[in-house]
Amino acid sequence: MNKIGIFFGTNSGTTRLMAKKMAKLLGDVAAKPLNINRTTAEELLQYDALILGTATYGIDQLPGKSTDIQDGSWEDFMPQLAGKDLSGKVIALYGLGDQEKYPDRFAHSLIHLYRWGVAGGADVVGQWSTEGYAFKQSPAVVDGQFVGLVLDQQSQSLLTEARLSAWIEAIKPALLAKLVG
Ligand SMILES: Cc1cc2nc3c(=O)[nH]c(=O)nc-3n(C[C@H](O)[C@H](O)[C@H](O)COP(=O)(O)O)c2cc1C
Repeated sequence: MNKIGIFFGTNSGTTRLMAKKMAKLLGDVAAKPLNINRTTAEELLQYDALILGTATYGIDQLPGKSTDIQDGSWEDFMPQLAGKDLSGKVIALYGLGDQEKYPDRFAHSLIHLYRWGVAGGADVVGQWSTEGYAFKQSPAVVDGQFVGLVLDQQSQSLLTEARLSAWIEAIKPALLAKLVG
C-alpha cells in the first residue's frame, strides 16, 4: 500500500479531529482517516505504515461498547486483530486523555494498542516525552516515555498544534520508508 493508514477510535469526536489534522499535515501520502468501528481487519492490515489513535475511557481497557460507545470501538474490533503477524509494519500511536480529571490513569488506553503492536512484531515508533504534562500516573508510560503521542484537549489544548507538528515530523521518515511506488 502506497499510503499511510490512519485509524482512530472515538466517542465525542476529538480523536477523529486529531486524525484529520495529522492527515492534513502529512498531505497526499495519508489515506483518509477511518473510524475503527467502520473498517475491517483486512483493510487495516493492508497498510505497512499506520497511525492508530484512541481516546481513553474507563479503567484498564480500550474504549468500546462496554464504555458506552454504542457503535463499538477498539475494544470490539481488537479480537479481529489479536495475534496477527505485524512484522514489517511501522506503527505510530497517539492517545487522547484528560490529565486534570484523571491524573491517576492518564491516557491509559494507549498501552493496549502498544502491547498489541509489540506482540505482533511491529516496529512501534513515535514515543513521546512526558515533559510538559502534569499527571500522577499513566500506564502508557514505558521506560520513562509515553508509548505514543498523548494529547489533552481538555486541559492543554493550546499545546496541541505544536505537539502534533513536532510528532508528525518525527515519525514521518519511518512511515514514508514503508511506502511503495
Ligand atoms: C466517562 C469518561 C471517562 C474518561 N476516562 C478517562 C481516563 O480514564 N483517563 C483519561 O486520561 N481520560 C479520560 N477521559 C477523557 C477522554 O479520554 C478525553 O475527553 C478524550 O479527549 C475524549 O476523546 P473522544 O472525543 O475522541 O472520545 C474520560 C472521559 C469521560 C467522559
